[in-house]
This record gives sequence, structure tokens and C-alpha cells, in this order.
Amino acid sequence: MSQPEMSRMHEDRLVIHNLVKRDPLADFAEDVRRGLAANPKYLFPKYLYDELGSQLFEAICLLPEYYLTRAENEILSRYAGEIVGAIAMPNTLIEMGSGSASKTRLIIETLLRDQSELLFVPVDISASALERSSRILLQSYPRLWIEAFAAEYFDGLAELAKKQRGRTLALFLGSNISNFEPEEARAFLRAMRSVLRAGDALLLGADLKKDKHILEAAYNDTLGVTAAFSRNLLVRINRALDADFDLPAFRHRAVFNETASRIEICVESLQPQKVAIRKLDMEVELGEGELIHTENSYKYDLAGIAALASQTGFVCGRTWLDSQNRFSSNLLLAEG
Ligand SMILES: C[S@@+](CC[C@H](N)C(=O)[O-])C[C@H]1O[C@@H](n2cnc3c(N)ncnc32)[C@H](O)[C@@H]1O
Repeated sequence: MSQPEMSRMHEDRLVIHNLVKRDPLADFAEDVRRGLAANPKYLFPKYLYDELGSQLFEAICLLPEYYLTRAENEILSRYAGEIVGAIAMPNTLIEMGSGSASKTRLIIETLLRDQSELLFVPVDISASALERSSRILLQSYPRLWIEAFAAEYFDGLAELAKKQRGRTLALFLGSNISNFEPEEARAFLRAMRSVLRAGDALLLGADLKKDKHILEAAYNDTLGVTAAFSRNLLVRINRALDADFDLPAFRHRAVFNETASRIEICVESLQPQKVAIRKLDMEVELGEGELIHTENSYKYDLAGIAALASQTGFVCGRTWLDSQNRFSSNLLLAEG
């Protein structure tokens, strides 16, 4: 079969809805203006995932220090059968923040073993990652259909809530939940719950609290890929908003805050400096050592996950851990 025929064949099984606002730059510009005028300064983590940021995240997943992906992969490789077997034959698989959907393959393969077709519904703010991963999956699995949403989580969930689906397993992997503040995490799970019907379930991947040195190493790799991922946000602002952030004048910082149980990630200004953001008609002044907060990564314990589930309309079903007890995969059941 020729290449054009192959891709036409895949087109029949792929629908991509783009819900990213008609003028995405307007939201980005407004959020950057607010965040850099605030005290302390901040930028939202969702903006880390432009095309390059999504690729840098894929590289992070391969780093020796970033144990999260390997641990979750180990759990899914070992227990996909048990996970899928815990709910009655889902014919729809939703995934929020799917990225490359590499680990998802383990669940897809397990589901396709027992049924003729499967509908995969990935939702991700990174349209480039979504399109790339969808096309790769369709090539691998001729019995897979994909309805993808390029969307922010809450917009995607609002859209998903409009349509009834068959028995559904939803995935929220990679400890994406860690980027939410506690109240946001509850709002997300409530919105997720309203998309699911009794008998459906959500598999929630959550990184666990552990030794500070292991945690800090995971976000301060020696190759500097995580630093590039963080500072790429400044590159994005330079490109999209005609700014002049001087990259060597900033460094990446990731520190574990024991009290709040979270890794706090910032870029730090190494000297007093002024940055012009011409499209915002704005000048940002930074002192030496001043931080721009870009991301938190909350670390959970199993009691915290059970509490989250019960506060948001789920019943905590089984939990699977990797062999070093670093990461948890939690099946939250939508009941009654
Ligand atoms: C940490 S990566 C994890 C990717 C994948 N789930 C994994 O486990 O490897 C987070 C993913 O969520 C997406 N994402 C981040 N913030 C988002 C938001 N607010 N709405 C929708 N997707 C988001 C990113 O584009 C990225 O693909």
C-alpha cells in the first residue's frame, strides 16, 4: 500500500477537535502580563508545553534521575491485565494530558486483546504532541479509533461531559495531578467524575513522598534537560511576545518544600536586570536571586490519594506500586 493510501486510511479513524481558543496568543499574553507583574512572579506550567517543550519532556522521561516514567511503566507492564480486568470491558479509553501516550500503549494492547475495536479519546493542550501521538498509535493499532481534543483540561472535560459514551476507563498518568494546587486537584477530579458514569473508572498515576535527595535529583538532572525545559518558557515568551530574556542570566531551580510536600520549580534571575516584553508594552524588573515560579509538583501519600478520591465522588479501588514503592497507580471507581 502506498504512503498516501496508508495515511488516508488512518484519517478515517482520526478526528481531532481543536478547542484551544481562537486567539491562543491573547490568553498567553494576558497570563504572562499578570504573572510577571505579580509579587512573587509566576508563569503557569501549562505554557511549558509548546512544540519544543513537549519534546523536551519526552527527553526528561529518559533521564536516569527521572524515575517517575520508568516506575509507572513498570506498574503498567506488570499489572495492565489486573487494572483493565477491574472494570467490565471498557470500549472507550479517555486520557487527560496524554502527551506521547507511550505508556498508554500497554493499556490499549491489553484492551484490544479482548475486544475487536477501541475508541481512544486523548485530551492535551499541546496540539503538536496530540497529533503526533495519534498518528503513531493509529499506525500501530488498526482496530483503534481516535477522537482527540487539543484543549486545556477543564475545557476538554466540559466538552466530554456533553456526550454519553460506552463503558469508559479514564487515565491521568505521569503524576500530572501533581501540578495542581490541592483545591484545583479536587476541582479536576470532580469534573472528571461528572464525565464518567457508574461502573466507569479513572486510573490516577501519582508520585509518592520520598527522600528529599531522590526527589530533588529527579528535577535537577546533571545533563540539564529539565533546566532547558524550564527556561524554554522564557524562549517562548521571547518568540511569541517579542521579549528579550537573556537566557544565561537565568538558572533553573527545583527545591523540595517538606512542609507543603511539593517540589517548587522556578527560574532564578542571576543578576539585577530589566526585560522588555515589546508586544505587552511592558518592562519587567528583576533583582539578583529573584524567582519566577513555573511549576509545583506535589508528592502524595496513599492516605492523601484516598482522601482526594472520597472528596470528589470516587471510591478508591486498588492501588499498584512499582518494585521500589516510588510511584502509585490508583484505580478510582465511579460508583452510584
Ligand atoms: C508531565 S506531561 C505527562 C505526559 C504523559 N501523560 C506521561 O505520563 O508521560 C504533562 C502532559 O499534560 C499536558 N498538559 C499540561 N497542562 C495541561 C493543561 N492545563 N491542559 C491540558 N493538557 C495539559 C502537557 O502538554 C503534557 O503532554
